[in-house]
Amino acid sequence: MRTADYPVDTTILERWSPRAFAADTMPEADLMSILEAGRWAPSAFNAQPWRFVWALRGDSAWDRLLGLLIPFNQGWAEKAAALVFFVSDTMQDGSSGPKPSHSHSFDTGAAWALMALQAGHLGYHSHGMTGVDFEAARRELGVPERFRVEAAAAFGRIGDPAALPDGLAAVAQLKWTTRRLAITTCQQRLFP
Ligand SMILES: Cc1cc2nc3c(=O)[nH]c(=O)nc-3n(C[C@H](O)[C@H](O)[C@H](O)COP(=O)(O)O)c2cc1C
Repeated sequence: MRTADYPVDTTILERWSPRAFAADTMPEADLMSILEAGRWAPSAFNAQPWRFVWALRGDSAWDRLLGLLIPFNQGWAEKAAALVFFVSDTMQDGSSGPKPSHSHSFDTGAAWALMALQAGHLGYHSHGMTGVDFEAARRELGVPERFRVEAAAAFGRIGDPAALPDGLAAVAQLKWTTRRLAITTCQQRLFP
């Protein structure tokens, strides 16, 4: 169990990113709850720049989305139950036409974080990935120029690390700690 410097909700402390998934399926309704959590994220001007492209293990899109991950990630994510690709709209529509969005990635990251927590609430784990063939993802997912493919994530029930490919089992069990709050937080100025 992770320990916090200051009290935080257990859903936050219990979230971590395993590589050992159970190779089972997820009801579509559960994935929709996870995506729904992302829908309620805050965003600048309520622009909601995120788009989610998903596949469930066993559906017709699964192999295509799995194939967009780098081989290392495919090696463990193939046992996840759902894959989601996060795409963001880099432009924001306004009365004088579209202009570049400052926070499309930030907002989409907020959506992903809520989805990870909702997944935990439902008894699933999640694992974000930028080990993605981004050019192929743009092509295969039909992402227009205006949009950015941000990342992907795997969701599923946790599995047995012993079933992982060689070399992955050891790292899979590590639950990383994080920098102490005092190192990433400062009052008033980042650098004196
Ligand atoms: C945007 C993002 C991209 C990541 N990319 C990968 C990846 O390609 N492959 C991988 O195995 N883990 C990836 N991770 C997992 C991180 O390494 C992990 O979240 C980090 O070490 C902290 O561990 P924790 O999530 O268990 O707290 C990614 C995480 C995020 C949020």
